[in-house]
Amino acid sequence: MAGLCLSALIVAGSASAKPSPADPAEVRAEQTVKAMTPAEKTVITHGIMPLPIGPNPAPLPPQAIPGAGYVPGIARLGVPALLETDASLGVSYVMGMRKDGATALPSGLAMASTWNPDILQRGGALIGSETRAKGFNVLLAGGVNLMRDPRNGRTFEYFSEDPLLSGVLAGSAIKGIQSNHVISTIKHFALNGQETGRKFADVQISDAHARESDLLAFKIGIEIGNPGSVMCAYNRVHGEQACASDYLLNKVLKQEWGYKGFVMSDWGAVPNLEAALKGLDQQSGAQLDPAVFFGDKLGAAAKSDPAYAARLDDMNKRILWAIYDNQLDKYPVTPGGKIDLAANSEVALETARQGIVLLRNERGVLPLTKTAKRIAVIGGFADAGVLSGAGSSQVQGLGGPAVSIPISGDPQWSAFLAQTYHRSSPVAAIKAIAPKADVRFRDARFIADAVEQAKRADVAIVFATKWSSEGFDQPDFSLPDGQDALIEAVAAANPNTIVVLETGNPIVMPWLSKTAAVVQAWYPGARGGEAIASVLFGETNPSGRLPITFPASAEQLPRPVLDGYHEFEPNFAGDAPSKTAKLTVNYDIEGSDLGYRWNARKGYKALFPFGYGLSYTTFAASGLKTDGTTASLTVRNTGKRAGATVAQVYLVSRSGMTAQRLVGFQRVELAPGQTSKVTVKIDPRLLADWKDGGWTIPAGDYAFAIGENAETLGAPVKVSLREKHWGD
Ligand code: BGC
Repeated sequence: MAGLCLSALIVAGSASAKPSPADPAEVRAEQTVKAMTPAEKTVITHGIMPLPIGPNPAPLPPQAIPGAGYVPGIARLGVPALLETDASLGVSYVMGMRKDGATALPSGLAMASTWNPDILQRGGALIGSETRAKGFNVLLAGGVNLMRDPRNGRTFEYFSEDPLLSGVLAGSAIKGIQSNHVISTIKHFALNGQETGRKFADVQISDAHARESDLLAFKIGIEIGNPGSVMCAYNRVHGEQACASDYLLNKVLKQEWGYKGFVMSDWGAVPNLEAALKGLDQQSGAQLDPAVFFGDKLGAAAKSDPAYAARLDDMNKRILWAIYDNQLDKYPVTPGGKIDLAANSEVALETARQGIVLLRNERGVLPLTKTAKRIAVIGGFADAGVLSGAGSSQVQGLGGPAVSIPISGDPQWSAFLAQTYHRSSPVAAIKAIAPKADVRFRDARFIADAVEQAKRADVAIVFATKWSSEGFDQPDFSLPDGQDALIEAVAAANPNTIVVLETGNPIVMPWLSKTAAVVQAWYPGARGGEAIASVLFGETNPSGRLPITFPASAEQLPRPVLDGYHEFEPNFAGDAPSKTAKLTVNYDIEGSDLGYRWNARKGYKALFPFGYGLSYTTFAASGLKTDGTTASLTVRNTGKRAGATVAQVYLVSRSGMTAQRLVGFQRVELAPGQTSKVTVKIDPRLLADWKDGGWTIPAGDYAFAIGENAETLGAPVKVSLREKHWGD
């Protein structure tokens, strides 16, 4: 206990002892804290979830808007209320409670498949502008958790399995969001790798492994995006709830990284008042916690205990810093701002186009010619729309979903959990691009009917979907509802069978070798149908690259069976079924070697590796030169169509030992025959190990290679590096 209080004091003490004159937001925040009465000091430290949830929902305060969170302001001091909405893919739908519609960006995985920080920033700027127009000033975006388990139900919301790729993309999105004078979070801090038992799963991982993986993604995201807030996670880390983790919040985030913003809790993630001493600054959606800890209870503790008093000042200062740094007070929000949904959806469309990954294309079956006579489109509600992922990040456009399939479950949460399709019909888009083709849609309820239709067509396109949601993990890698058998049967009936996948996780493909083409469209967002059609017909040359590994089977994973899968009932809230329920998740098995790095260590071949994706043209990358701090190479479009590729540079070994790490990447657009020189900076942390409280690059030979993907690597280029050691 003494140790905890001490570290809390150190955080508060160091912040107030050294005000940075260069940071006006910090100076202003300190002045406002000084002007606060004791009662005012607990106003912005806790908020509610402004939704009619729970047994006796209280009426909403007049200023609150149905959304994720509401924290009242302090009018006397000009401190604005915080009006919070989810999330990373757009302004959320909150169970259909707001009918005003918003632009749905493609899923996080789709965005990440672009490997394009610029489009992420544009998407961020867009969803930030809609946040503001709808009267919110905090967007709970910035999901950056790494894919440690490909069955994680929230994989679709996040970006990748790699700390560099995820950190850069999350940081870029946050930068775009905050360009609207809207605070963004980065979340969920940290090691929130599965939904099963999400509130009590206890992560075991060494400090070194955490720093080299999940924490590095957060660090890079914070450096690039400068988010006003960090949202701590539901899970436990070394026995402590992440929202009450002295290690994560005080030690790493605040003391070592010098983070100036505030830590807000995830909804229902605060175990007790002591979380304040462990580094939590704001209690969100407090009615979901066992008590409102950060209101009167915190005020009373601050009166009698100097540790709490110091923390209370620091908590206020941090929240105010985020408000002032983003100028929330100077640019007040009012609901009812104008949104040009049609114009905004162009960004969603462009992101979807760049994020679609062509996984297979035999005999050049794609792109389809616009003169194809008869096209059978089968399944996936492709006549109506494109699938989206569920939970708090769910966005819907005007009029709500095109299709909504209720999923039974806890009645309190069932409205969050419908399987919904955005109004962007692939069938309509295919008809628009190929108006002369005879396009026939069959809903795939009967395999025999689908087969019959496929036999009569020149081309059969099967839309295969796999829904995923916050709160639930995937039980395995199959396609649900007999779709694997459907594809098998259609492919046997028509050699030109193309499978379009709308999934939020990797899947296995027992039918792969029988198909002509496979297009991974993820959850492609508001204009997904058009994006898919434009790739199928070659108006878009696919350029997406996988941001995650598709394992060949569960046996390749560090955890062939998801921890807790057999022991605990699926449960959206993720609460422990009893006080004694225990779920330990050991991330030291893979340590910092996630996904492709694990496969490199074990010598496994993925079904589709990280970084993989085909194009309708061909590229050649060559001439890698590096001194270990930058790398340069030449990329050439050797085909006949304009297209884009992603130059990828990997560390492959250190002193002869396999050590694979993505160290640089850049998306390049090239006309046929065009050559471009690409230079990437190598972040030294990607070459280093976390050791003795800092980063160490051990002396030795470092081999780098150009990667067409993580498994197809060019000739290694060796550099001798001297030992180097530095702090975080
Ligand atoms: C999710 C967060 C979300 C919050 C508010 C939680 O269930 O984990 O990502 O921001 O709800 O809706």
